[in-house]
Amino acid sequence: MNTVATEGAPAPAAPVVEGLPFTSPWLLAPMEGVTAPSFRDIVLARHAPTDLGGAFTEFVRVIDRPVAKREMHKHLGTRRFQIPVGIQLMGSDLECVTGSAAHAAELGVPVLDLNFGCPARGALKGCAGAAALKEPSGVEAAVRAAVKGVDGRTPVTAKIRAGFDHDRDVEVLARAAEAGGAAMLTIHCRTRREGYQEEVFWSRIARAVNAVRIPVAGNGSAWLHSDLERMRRETGCAFVMVGRGALRDPWIFSGREVPVAEAAAFLHEYAQVLESLGAPRRAAVGRVKQLLQYWEAGGLVGDHEGRERWLRDSDTEGFLARLESLAAPALS
Ligand SMILES: Cc1cc2nc3c(=O)[nH]c(=O)nc-3n(C[C@H](O)[C@H](O)[C@H](O)COP(=O)(O)O)c2cc1C
Repeated sequence: MNTVATEGAPAPAAPVVEGLPFTSPWLLAPMEGVTAPSFRDIVLARHAPTDLGGAFTEFVRVIDRPVAKREMHKHLGTRRFQIPVGIQLMGSDLECVTGSAAHAAELGVPVLDLNFGCPARGALKGCAGAAALKEPSGVEAAVRAAVKGVDGRTPVTAKIRAGFDHDRDVEVLARAAEAGGAAMLTIHCRTRREGYQEEVFWSRIARAVNAVRIPVAGNGSAWLHSDLERMRRETGCAFVMVGRGALRDPWIFSGREVPVAEAAAFLHEYAQVLESLGAPRRAAVGRVKQLLQYWEAGGLVGDHEGRERWLRDSDTEGFLARLESLAAPALS
């Protein structure tokens, strides 16, 4: 099995914090069903490593055996950039976490993240994801198990929510990740109960920052480029991780305001990549529409009516032709 650092891959850019591979303070969040290589690579290809510092695969479930390297490769994709892409694992079977982490390290993955925030029911049943937030010692044990597996070859990071159904244990959870040996903690500042509610409390990020010595990545409703620096300033976090803000505008990391043609070219390329990977054309357009629910870049969707027009368009060929003609100036 090839390693991740394949021949001909660009040399990684300089990290901004020692011991972590990230090349800028702004990180693309793991998002299941979105941050597959198909979408992620298009974002990475449009950014300098000084603007976007790192990205992650969507979570890969660790169930009853170590995740195979083949499976990890699928999530990491084949293209390599100067921007590091870490793999995210989610599971509570400690031996399997250790074995999976060893596989990731053997592949040369630049960073391994553990997910303790996934609110999905399936995840809760297997006592992974956000379920671990009820028991901080479980967070510590899982991080320790991953650290054991990588054996000094790869930094291990942990991503938590602010708690399960209350935020009183932010400090305890942050310290648990640190005690397990995490090199960085990402905190999504909503509790599991709060789901994706609009109101967020960045003060919880500041509490985590004050509770640990490891660098903290703040996460939660950074929608605009200006929010990135603001979150750092208001909370003291070293990194800011952006989820849906990057679906709203994939150029959020550089703050570049792209013309409509570039926005359309992104979406058109996304559809093409999905098709090249075997998605039926209709399904590929469905995935583009998933992005369009958030999309603001380039003024492509316009007002509410304009967005609805894109979303309700059931003529697959017409949809793609419209995107292509808007993209034309950026493609020539
Ligand atoms: C569609 C979607 C899928 C997600 N999948 C994951 C995942 O695989 N792993 C993870 O740790 N978080 C996942 N999250 C949570 C995000 O990483 C992030 O913590 C959350 O969206 C809050 O950040 P935001 O307010 O910037 O979007 C997902 C979020 C969304 C919207």
